[in-house]
Amino acid sequence: MTLTTEATSEGFEFVVVANRLPVDRARQEDGSFIWRTSPGGLVTALSPVMEQMGGAWVGWAGEDSEGVTEFQHGSTHIVPVPLSADEVELYYEGFSNDTLWPLYHDVIAPPTYHREWWDAYVTVNERFAAAAAAVSAHGATVWVHDYQLQLVPGLLRELRPDLIIGFFNHIPFPAYGLFSQLPWRNQIVKGLLGADVIGFQRTADAANFSRAVRRLMGYETKGTSIYVPLESDQGDMNTGGYRKGGPTRRVLAKHFPISIDFQSFEELARSPEVQARAAQIREELGSPTTILFGVDRLDYTKGIRHRLKAYGELLEDGRVKAEDTTLVQVASPSRERVETYRQLRDEIELTVGRINGDYGTIGHAAVNYLHHGYPREEMVALYLAADVMLVTALRDGMNLVAKEYVATRFDNDGVLVLSEFAGASDDLKQALLINPHDIAGLKDSIMEAINMPARERGRRMRSMRKRVRDNDVARWSHDFLTELARSSAARHSEALGHSVGTI
Ligand code: G6P
Repeated sequence: MTLTTEATSEGFEFVVVANRLPVDRARQEDGSFIWRTSPGGLVTALSPVMEQMGGAWVGWAGEDSEGVTEFQHGSTHIVPVPLSADEVELYYEGFSNDTLWPLYHDVIAPPTYHREWWDAYVTVNERFAAAAAAVSAHGATVWVHDYQLQLVPGLLRELRPDLIIGFFNHIPFPAYGLFSQLPWRNQIVKGLLGADVIGFQRTADAANFSRAVRRLMGYETKGTSIYVPLESDQGDMNTGGYRKGGPTRRVLAKHFPISIDFQSFEELARSPEVQARAAQIREELGSPTTILFGVDRLDYTKGIRHRLKAYGELLEDGRVKAEDTTLVQVASPSRERVETYRQLRDEIELTVGRINGDYGTIGHAAVNYLHHGYPREEMVALYLAADVMLVTALRDGMNLVAKEYVATRFDNDGVLVLSEFAGASDDLKQALLINPHDIAGLKDSIMEAINMPARERGRRMRSMRKRVRDNDVARWSHDFLTELARSSAARHSEALGHSVGTI
């Protein structure tokens, strides 16, 4: 694959479009502003890709970003898209995070459907599409990301038919029985089908999407290919009716499991400063025999309550004691104005308080709960200090924390307890795989992790490390962009009349 990412006089050859920019502008208590790394797995994965490729990144600079204009960040040209306070409420907190997020995560929390949220979603998607169109060179590759921007591929194709358009969904795509609840399901499917390649985390996500296309639009699908009738033959968006047998455009819907920059995590872990910090953390925790560790955005999909329930019961049963075991739970603040997230925070903090009150002793907290985000160095030190990593998500597109833990453990030690409902479980089969709803099973797996012999820990960790090393984020983007280049080349040769697909 060869891709030029330089800016030409008419725009950039490679453009990423995501709701978040890699950096987020935040107001500090004294009124001054700082730029921070944005939260979440999307930015963790995409930042090293962009650092290497260069190009433009179109996105929102966060709540305190009024008046921010284009600027250069390392090798990335940043193009901020403004959102008004109303749009933050209706498009971001509302439709993205209180409609789509719970719906796409198997309705763990009930999704809310409001027509005015949808209207704001359309308006903001139009703004992102226009911003991407304005900075893209003729024939550029534009890579759109995640559930906040599902209409952008279709809008962009209308504005700029010359572009090569990819889309990657970082979160799960739900089964049709759930997706069909969405009042605007046809519009979403049509928006996504504007892309040449639609990437998903797991094979099941891609299959769920293809099924939705068949059910809602009636288009033919075959394996990972979807045959979309050319614009004039698409029929009514609401009924999906279209003229069969007409010319089609082939869209690829396939899984491309996302990953991390393995090498940079391993390098950090090997640095003497980070190792010294890991030793210091163990000491500050009172040198317990076992450190259990969880780190998540404070989100109801992450299964933090289930984790605390299992750990609390292990303390109650006397299978672990606060004198020799501690759970460090980092919960980074997230979407704090959405009601479900507020409730979750209250519940988690009540539970932590109860566990510590019931089972802690002086100098030995059963749970060390930290409601902060931390810089990467500190995270890596925590991974190194942790004997057992707990990833108990109820539903998660991938979960990059699991892969980060594995990448940092160059000592081939540590045990990963991993939910089978996280995409990472497809890759990390040597983890202790658990069903977080099965509290008895989760308790047994935590005990198995605590008591696992060193030899077995080493065997499992070595195999997981090889897997993540061989399938790092550079490989992910390479695989996706290669498919994208291939399918756009096929489209161009069709346009030249070599072969037009028909159904
Ligand atoms: C997940 C999503 C991302 C999102 C991130 C942080 O990783 O897939 O699209 O950016 O969470 O959430 P936030 O709402 O703070 O952007």
